[in-house]
Amino acid sequence: MNLTQKMRPQMRSTTASALQPGPLQRLQPEDIAAVIQIEQDVHAYPWSAGNFHDSLKAHYEAWILPDQHAQLIGYFLWMAAVDEGHLLNITVRRDLQGQGWGRYLMDQMTHLARDSGMQSILLEVRPSNSQAVKLYERYGFLPIGRRKAYYPGADQSREDALVMRLPL
Ligand SMILES: CC(C)(COP(=O)(O)OP(=O)(O)OC[C@H]1O[C@@H](n2cnc3c(N)ncnc32)[C@H](O)[C@@H]1OP(=O)(O)O)[C@@H](O)C(=O)NCCC(=O)NCCS
Repeated sequence: MNLTQKMRPQMRSTTASALQPGPLQRLQPEDIAAVIQIEQDVHAYPWSAGNFHDSLKAHYEAWILPDQHAQLIGYFLWMAAVDEGHLLNITVRRDLQGQGWGRYLMDQMTHLARDSGMQSILLEVRPSNSQAVKLYERYGFLPIGRRKAYYPGADQSREDALVMRLPL
């Protein structure tokens, strides 16, 4: 049984259940163009292609989830810092959001992190990103602090980051 079969979620809608996850795959340079399309569509401050290439060069854990037709459902990137995994990016394609795929990707991510010996997951999130905050809260992440003026905001303003942690 592969990882994807083991972690198959209880999907909530008929649309989502018609869509089957393919096997989770390591991000390859040739996937970055498709990832960037989603990244630019859903993030107000998207990563650049260079950010993804740099992540590969730095040997971060970068994974994509295709569907049964090889279309991307979403992706996530994390890096190991001793025994703590740092979640850098988790993204679900816009038309598939709110159907359980974020939780599914989180299941995959925490599974991989545990297998790599991580004891916890740390992340930063914009407090204004209520969809992401909700996902993390529902998943059991707890707020542990704030990083002041961490993110760029509109009109040269800055937004704090909420720092959250999940013990594994
Ligand atoms: C954040 C994101 C990854 C969540 O993925 P998702 O597939 O939309 O989330 P899910 O459907 O798995 O929902 C997970 C939880 O979040 C909550 N949630 C999902 N969509 C929501 C919405 N629109 N409003 C409020 N809560 C929502 C649900 O309550 C759900 O909890 P439950 O399973 O207990 O009901 C996704 O919305 C996304 O890619 N957003 C844009 C990119 C981003 O902001 N990434 C995070 C920072 S890098």
